[in-house]
Amino acid sequence: MPDVTIIDVSPRDGLQNDPKPVSTEEKQQLVRMLVDAGVEKVEVTSFVHPKKVPQMADAKELVHSLAHMEDLEPIVLIPNLKGYERTKELSVSEINWVSAATETFNAKNIGMSIDENMEQFLKVLEEAKQDGIKTCFSVAVSFGCPYEGDVDEEQVLRIVRRVKEAGVDRIGIADTIGIATPDHVERLMGKVLEIAGTTPVTIHLHDTRGLGLANAYMAYRAGVRIFETSASGIGGCPFAPGAAGNLATEDLVYLFERMNISTGIDFEKLLDAADYAAILSSKNPLGRIRHVERKKEKGN
Ligand code: COA
Ligand code: ZN
Repeated sequence: MPDVTIIDVSPRDGLQNDPKPVSTEEKQQLVRMLVDAGVEKVEVTSFVHPKKVPQMADAKELVHSLAHMEDLEPIVLIPNLKGYERTKELSVSEINWVSAATETFNAKNIGMSIDENMEQFLKVLEEAKQDGIKTCFSVAVSFGCPYEGDVDEEQVLRIVRRVKEAGVDRIGIADTIGIATPDHVERLMGKVLEIAGTTPVTIHLHDTRGLGLANAYMAYRAGVRIFETSASGIGGCPFAPGAAGNLATEDLVYLFERMNISTGIDFEKLLDAADYAAILSSKNPLGRIRHVERKKEKGN
């Protein structure tokens, strides 16, 4: 067993906000390359309104097309009951349910209050248990909100306590706008881990201000063992103004492997996947290591 688990979210978070259309086949290829590199858990798409996030309109077709991919544990993001209904009959191993720590972000992102969303989640949790689908509850904007600014820790912890009590399989804490600093990560993740107990905890990091790696390492020191990152560092939320890409998967894998913290991922193959993710994206990906490694190969 590797020391840490990395979930790559590039097909979902990486592409969702990109105006350049990416075909189902191209997304399938990206997932295949990630799986080839040893990334078993990939957040492949989201079941949201196609008009709000056109890039995810092919969610069903994509999940169908991945059904026979060995070694892949596909995860899909879902914000409401309707999203869960759309996943029925698809071979999804895990859903990542999203809600925010603030009312304004929830209203803008998913058109629901925190309580309304929680009510729907509790229904879905029961169904998912019966359907044999694992659940993660992710708390967006846990470290800061583009609309409300600072986020009270207690707001995050209240949600964490509620979903822990309800029996969720994993708890995700997201720095949606890349505002976290290592001291904040240490403080909040310490408390989240304490409440979570044996329930696995994930940190989802964006690298907007270049603090992604420092925050990831601090989360590791605090006890977090599951990280959500994106190949080449593409990404961003359409409802979080100013937010940039995710922490690059290959940057984090490089850090861990150099420190003898095993990830189970083949770095060279991951670089290939990251190159491909960068080609699919119309933006300038944030990842750094890829450029250094490719330059080295060219001998300059
Ligand atoms: N997938 C597809 N369609 C959905 C849906 C879903 N998960 N949830 C609702 N809808 C449809 C409804 O069927 C209805 O369709 P109709 O107009 O044809 O009857 C329409 O959307 C309105 O339904 P309503 O329940 O009022 O939802 P809404 O308009 O408040 O939208 C979301 C709710 C969550 C679907 C929408 O806000 C959304 O897609 N947000 C994007 C969130 C996101 O991806 N953020 C980035 C990642 S965190
Ligand atoms: Zn994100």
